[in-house]
Amino acid sequence: MKPAAALLVFLFSAYFVNSRRLYKPDHVGIIGGHSIAIENAPYVVSLRLNGSYHWCGGSIIHEQFVLTAAHCMVPHREFKVRVGADKVDEGGKLYDVEKKIIHPKYNNLTSDYDICILKLNESLSFGPKVNKIALNDRKVKLRSRVMLNATGWGYTQPEGKVSQYLRQVTIPVVETFLCQLIYGLNNRITHRMFCAGGNGKDTCSGDSGGPITKDNIQVGVTSFGSGCGKIPGVYAKISVFNKWIKKTIEES
Ligand SMILES: *[C@@H]1O[C@H](CO)[C@@H](O)[C@H](O)[C@H]1NC(C)=O
Ligand SMILES: *[C@@H]1O[C@H](CO)[C@@H](O)[C@H](O)[C@H]1NC(C)=O
Ligand SMILES: *[C@@H]1O[C@H](CO)[C@@H](O)[C@H](O)[C@H]1NC(C)=O
Ligand SMILES: *[C@@H]1O[C@H](CO)[C@@H](O)[C@H](O)[C@H]1NC(C)=O
Repeated sequence: MKPAAALLVFLFSAYFVNSRRLYKPDHVGIIGGHSIAIENAPYVVSLRLNGSYHWCGGSIIHEQFVLTAAHCMVPHREFKVRVGADKVDEGGKLYDVEKKIIHPKYNNLTSDYDICILKLNESLSFGPKVNKIALNDRKVKLRSRVMLNATGWGYTQPEGKVSQYLRQVTIPVVETFLCQLIYGLNNRITHRMFCAGGNGKDTCSGDSGGPITKDNIQVGVTSFGSGCGKIPGVYAKISVFNKWIKKTIEES
């Protein structure tokens, strides 16, 4: 390959973005993190496709409502939510999803407004392993290099035998302009998004919809990235959606 062609391939590869839900159940999970007990993040849930296998993450924001990413929803499929478990496939308690409310402005081509609220079939009882998380109302400023926690389940190897424990990684906010340069200056990174991590610490497939937090306040929802662990991941910005979330919960 000529150097110019190689450079073009390299540049183009940065534009090849993937959502972070699972395409198959054996993708890698949180990159560069460590396992944690559910008591350290009792607001984290596993969203199960067809009620059977882990598909996306989510967070408890109210006794009967869970927040996740809009791109995690697949039409004509049934979802269940597992709460209170550190192991992805056992323990805790399963609930049916009674209602899915995708943000009306969600764009499945650009991933803009990538947020969705799920109403559970009954109210949760809160305790050490099941609890809600507060949402950022602009109190937490997402300045460059502010450290955040990303939490989710996922396999630690692409194939084969895996640990299925909940994992967490601490990642820095990456300045939006820098992130725009990395993803291409085509408005891919909108005001509804922010970037964080990369360089060996990142979220990956299967972490979509899961919470990004700072000191027990949720500031983001895992949305998409290009590859895993090399360049920053992209997250939906909670502060932009705060009003819509409150209103939707009140009306549902
Ligand atoms: C999920 O359910 C749908 C419809 O009931 C079915 O077509 C599909 O094959 C199921 N997917 C899996 C992975 O079980
Ligand atoms: C809610 O869904 C769960 C899981 O399918 C089920 O066990 C439970 O009985 C349901 N609760 C109600 C009130 O229907
Ligand atoms: C994306 O959204 C458009 C319009 O809302 C819809 O027609 C299309 O089927 C969607 N594509 C996917 C892959 O969900
Ligand atoms: C990340 O989570 C750990 C506990 O799992 C906590 O000690 C730490 O303060 C958290 N960091 C941030 C930035 O929230």
